[in-house]
Amino acid sequence: MKSVVIEQPGELVLAERPQPQPAPDEVRVRVTFASICGSDVHIWHGHNPFAQYPRVIGHEFFGVIDAVGADVDASRIGERVAVDPVVSCGHCYPCSVGRPNVCKTLQVIGVHRDGGFSEYAVAPAQNAHRLPATIPDKLASLVEPFTIAANITAFLKPQADDIALIYGAGPMGLTAIQVLKGVYGVRQVLVVDRLPERLALAQENGADRVFNNSEFPLAAQLEGVQPTLIIDAACHPAILAEAAALASPAARIGLLGFSGEPCSITQQALTSKELSLFTSRLNSNRFPQVIDWMEQGLIQPEKLVTHYFPLAEIVRAMTLFEKDPRTCCKVILQMD
Ligand code: NAI
Ligand code: MN
Ligand code: ZN
Repeated sequence: MKSVVIEQPGELVLAERPQPQPAPDEVRVRVTFASICGSDVHIWHGHNPFAQYPRVIGHEFFGVIDAVGADVDASRIGERVAVDPVVSCGHCYPCSVGRPNVCKTLQVIGVHRDGGFSEYAVAPAQNAHRLPATIPDKLASLVEPFTIAANITAFLKPQADDIALIYGAGPMGLTAIQVLKGVYGVRQVLVVDRLPERLALAQENGADRVFNNSEFPLAAQLEGVQPTLIIDAACHPAILAEAAALASPAARIGLLGFSGEPCSITQQALTSKELSLFTSRLNSNRFPQVIDWMEQGLIQPEKLVTHYFPLAEIVRAMTLFEKDPRTCCKVILQMD
């Protein structure tokens, strides 16, 4: 089978590899569509501290179960599934409190284990989520990025009368907009980015007001409006201090970033307004919820997609995704 392998940082090859066999509790998926995420590019360039090499990348993928391990019900063969990349132990402290996404021995498919930019991939049977026929194959890999928004909003508990502010209108910001509007019915969703093309996408994805902070600081443009719920989906370490300064008293702030650089902020900036900070990593069993949202039409994955490429054009696809955020948002690979 053909697989996208990062042999070592900087070295991406489309390699011929043996088909994986499912372990007793696993299924094998014949992958048909997979989407590119910033973390795939980071693994390629050696910028993901969790990655181990060589690695078949890809953690956003969809396909059909074509083989099952000895302990898995064989009737699952033929099921259309989206695969949750979070593999957890099930018994450590975070697992015991429903947070397998930060399992002490967390393994992420496509990062710590071989992933879905491949004609076949294996995963624990419980990670393969059956999809209703109403979710088309070519959009099904987008369940995973929406689970990020599902996870952070579960902490933030959005209300219809919140004034929400989202930093960044990349895939993460756009999924957050859609979930705030379509699922939680938040009436005012404000979005800030530096690229006008991304802000246009934000509007297409439901943003009520957009702001470009490339020339003028956001504070001046908000004219005193104080957001009550803020999501940092741009993830520059300087954003937290700005968000705290702009926030309403009693606001909630959600952080998604993984920067190793310190954020500089005073206790006073947080405590004087009694701000709540939440961080969110990957997702804790949120595939069923997002699949349900898609089935109900509360979110529109097609609004994120700008390109489809065949697997053979992986380098072109990843390069475009990386270098051209003005024309590119979600890029989907087609395997066959
Ligand atoms: P992206 O790079 O496509 O989007 C980021 C957007 O933020 C861009 O449109 C950029 O122009 C904008 N931006 C950058 N600095 C800004 C600033 N100071 N003010 C306003 N806008 C600014 O990335 P993507 O895929 O949307 O991911 C966003 C972040 O989320 C990344 O840092 C990524 O590491 C993180 N992430 C976190 C996850 C988690 O589970 N915690 C999961 C996936 C991504
Ligand atoms: Mn992703
Ligand atoms: Zn665990």
